[in-house]
Amino acid sequence: MTIRSTVNVVFHDARVIDPLLGRDGVGDVVVLDGIIVERPGEVPAGCVHVDCRGLVIAPAFVDLHCHLREPGFEEKETVASGTAAAAAGGFGVVCCMPNTRPPLDSAARADAFSEIVRRDARVRVLPIAAVTLGRRGQALVDIRALASAGVAGFSDDGDYVADTVVMRDALSQAMGLGLPVIDHAQDGRLVAGGVLNEGHVARRLKLRGMPAEAEELAVARNIALARLTGGHVHIAHITTARAVEMVRRARNEGVWVTAEVAPHHMLLTDDDAMMLDSTGVPRFVNQAKVNPPLRTRDDVAAVVRGVSEGVIDAIATDHAPHTLEDKSGSPGEAAFGISVFETALASALTASEQTDLSLARVVHCLTAGPAAVLKEGMVRPCLEPGSPASLVLFDPETKWTVDVSRFLSKGRNTPLEGRTLQGRVIATFVDGSCAFVSDSVFGERTGQRMLNPDGGDAVDPLPDIPNATQER
Ligand code: DOR
Repeated sequence: MTIRSTVNVVFHDARVIDPLLGRDGVGDVVVLDGIIVERPGEVPAGCVHVDCRGLVIAPAFVDLHCHLREPGFEEKETVASGTAAAAAGGFGVVCCMPNTRPPLDSAARADAFSEIVRRDARVRVLPIAAVTLGRRGQALVDIRALASAGVAGFSDDGDYVADTVVMRDALSQAMGLGLPVIDHAQDGRLVAGGVLNEGHVARRLKLRGMPAEAEELAVARNIALARLTGGHVHIAHITTARAVEMVRRARNEGVWVTAEVAPHHMLLTDDDAMMLDSTGVPRFVNQAKVNPPLRTRDDVAAVVRGVSEGVIDAIATDHAPHTLEDKSGSPGEAAFGISVFETALASALTASEQTDLSLARVVHCLTAGPAAVLKEGMVRPCLEPGSPASLVLFDPETKWTVDVSRFLSKGRNTPLEGRTLQGRVIATFVDGSCAFVSDSVFGERTGQRMLNPDGGDAVDPLPDIPNATQER
């Protein structure tokens, strides 16, 4: 299921936001034979013309953090289903975490995974290797061999690298290779048995909480080790106001620390983890169970400000698909995680309403921001003429209601089901080919229904596009 055909498309009158090239203004984007062309002498007959008034074109998004679950948990997600969902979310590059079975902790496993990617991926996939063998937190992986195998960084995500010496050595060794160590910064013993943020909601539900301090201790430790080694620590899914302030201060002091925030931590609070049942009894919402947990309103405001002010580099999905079964049972039994790819942009744009967070900054944190966290040159999300088109077309204003039955991800686990969000991806091109298109909207914008005769959103990338002619 690799990407198939190249396309000839002219996108007319879009707002083009390209943070790397410093472009933000209304204009056309021309793609001929899959390549971005600056000033085409002549647009060939048979080219698709898209009226993009009111729409945005940006480089396809880069996700620093997702779970594709393969190998080992294919019932939750596969490279095929996960990257289809990523494309539907506007992503052209995704970095996937190694908490698979077996975990990606050796060059041989990285090679085996690359084979799956070559066969099945619809977008670019950059694997992140474990920091420790078996993700057991003890012996360091062969950092150099994994770097040679092409991994994008190292993380025991899902677990904190609690051993300070192991983390120090990982930072020192990865630094020499220009790669980040990405830490699930949260003291595991302080949150053991917890299911949601420690606070008034946890108390009301009489459930064990996960204190903000567990994250803040780990962020402080990581900053200290980055200062000690000169290495690059990247804080995964930051959630607390005080952690954001620590990162701000450390960066001002020149410590090499970067940070990402997940869209749900920009939008939802621990109040969303509770609902009243039909008899008025408060209940925990398993779909809102995520690690780190949804925090308070003040924390949400602080992370959104952190994005706005440039303290947080990237919006990263932490797409964590699970089966319905895995998300059911008691609060303690349900798995941690939210399926995020297909609501990521809309969550960020909805969160940006009524705050200072601009659309341009959201796009930055989905493109140039995450690219700068990765090793220089690993990805270059921009609309440079002469390069194969990797771009996303989206409507920043349209409101839509989340319906998990339409997800391309196998993971239907989201607390956003039924919620109305703002901002919708219309099409994603990756390396010159169409990886996702919303047939209905694309059809409207070109004046004809080009793809699925039944009018549903396209699930497959569409060989019909090159042949579909429509003059404006
Ligand atoms: O909620 C989470 N789910 N947080 C993690 O750190 C891991 C992830 C998963 O793999 O399901």
